[in-house]
Amino acid sequence: MNDQPVAVFDSGLGGLTVVRALQRQMPNESIVYFGDTARVPYGTKTCRTVLQFAEQDCNFLLRFDPKLIIAACNTASALAIDELAPHLPVPVLGVVRPGAAEAVRQARGRPIAVLATPATVSSEAYPRAIQAIAPHIAVTQQQCPSLVAMIEEGRGSEDPILRMLVAEYLEGIRGLSPGVILLGCTHYPLVADAIGALVPQARVVDSAQATAIAAQQMLAERDALSGACGRGTLRCYVSDNPQRFREIGGRFLGRPIRDVTWVTPEQFFQESLLGAPLGSDRCA
Ligand code: DGL
Repeated sequence: MNDQPVAVFDSGLGGLTVVRALQRQMPNESIVYFGDTARVPYGTKTCRTVLQFAEQDCNFLLRFDPKLIIAACNTASALAIDELAPHLPVPVLGVVRPGAAEAVRQARGRPIAVLATPATVSSEAYPRAIQAIAPHIAVTQQQCPSLVAMIEEGRGSEDPILRMLVAEYLEGIRGLSPGVILLGCTHYPLVADAIGALVPQARVVDSAQATAIAAQQMLAERDALSGACGRGTLRCYVSDNPQRFREIGGRFLGRPIRDVTWVTPEQFFQESLLGAPLGSDRCA
């Protein structure tokens, strides 16, 4: 048993959908969450920048002596985790591999369509992860750049403007008759109904739940699950605007958020975790 916290980071508040799944799956675990609300979105940034931000996010979270770090952000998982993991003193889990594995399981050989941010789509991380497991499955990707802002604005599956936008994004995909639509972005589970309604023959798979199960397995294998008997806590840290995080984040978490602390730049930026800058190879 191990009562050290599980650390989770995201570009902002979207990663709370992953926290929600983690809390459902492992109510004993205490979670420390960092949302980089000062620098969100990551999904339109370059690989080098996302890698640098992810490194700084992990560096900050290491101060809490976590037993596991989870990159809840799909963009950071896609662009940064493989590069960062060998340099970190604790195991790191991203959402891409668990999400890809669950999509393959549910697709049963039919095509998979991945919806994600522009940066995640360009990285090809989801097609690579899917084809590493199932080389013959056809994978198509669609970037949905405006969805994140609309969802944060409060537009849900019933909103007519959001439905029009989703219909436009899915236009090319619908003709391919996918068996699975994989939600490759933290925000999309909030509008899963609007997405599913447009492609009724497809199953809508969310990386968050699959990641929570993978995290539980990782901890169990290391005999590191907490023994806190349903008393897991959640502490949130953000790099800007804790008030907005509290107001909007509740929708992502599924309940009100209480414990949010603003981390000022002076507190956030300390010595680099890894010394030399990363990314020279992958992000050239
Ligand atoms: N959290 C990001 C992701 O899952 C979406 C928001 C952003 O672009 O930063 O890719």
